[in-house]
Amino acid sequence: MSLLEVKNLSVRHGGIPAVRDVSFAIDAGESLTFLGPNGAGKTSCVEAIAGLVPKSGGQVIFAGKDITRLSASAIARRGLALVPQWRELFATFTVAETLAAGAQAAIGRKPRPLDEIYALFPKLADRQQQAAGSLSGGEQQMLTLARAFIASPSLLLLDEPSTGLAVGIVGSLIETINRIRSTGVAILAVEQNVQIARSVAEQCCLLSVGELVWRGKVETALTDGELQRAYFGAH
Ligand SMILES: Nc1ncnc2c1ncn2[C@@H]1O[C@H](COP(=O)(O)OP(=O)(O)OP(=O)(O)O)[C@@H](O)[C@H]1O
Ligand SMILES: [Mg+2]
Repeated sequence: MSLLEVKNLSVRHGGIPAVRDVSFAIDAGESLTFLGPNGAGKTSCVEAIAGLVPKSGGQVIFAGKDITRLSASAIARRGLALVPQWRELFATFTVAETLAAGAQAAIGRKPRPLDEIYALFPKLADRQQQAAGSLSGGEQQMLTLARAFIASPSLLLLDEPSTGLAVGIVGSLIETINRIRSTGVAILAVEQNVQIARSVAEQCCLLSVGELVWRGKVETALTDGELQRAYFGAH
């Protein structure tokens, strides 16, 4: 049985289709990347799965339970965490307070121990009493990831974790995501940064104009001339 099963998911924004009939599955501990041009519907898709935007059709099964109509907080409590594209931290919360708030989302599950979090994110360990709003962009991204991970999810949805990060930080982001993966957490990462897409998953889904048009190896999606021409406007 798959950990996540998405069946014919559709999303509309103001009546206009953004996601049409998207179906795919992820197994426990598996990683998958969503690739596709701007406006393809990647964010709408992951936000609908996480219950943040309404679904206009389809079904989402997570850990054997139908979560299609559950609220975002009820879905998060079941162990499906979304890290949004734009880091939404409380600027005045310290790193320690942010992590404590994240741990509270693990209702019914044991949160990950703080020691483990600080070992995984050493920069955060050095800044426990610093306000989230005063961290660098890279540190804020780490904190957003850590806040989701401490609640001990079994599936993490990452929406373009590299957004707004300096190129030099991408390597440490990849390392962190891979360490999270090695704990057995399944990951669905939306990512346009080729270096990250290559490093965090072998398999990908290609989205184009709201539809899932291809599933296969990330390497093929990034190198196949025909796919590149068809979906990424390459010449
Ligand atoms: N809140 C909204 N209201 C109206 N239209 C929206 C809204 N959010 C997204 N859309 C539209 O839905 C379509 C899919 O957008 P979405 O943000 O899901 O794409 P994306 O693949 O994540 O793009 P990007 O790579 O730029 O992040 C786009 O045409 C977008 O303009
Ligand atoms: Mg997006």
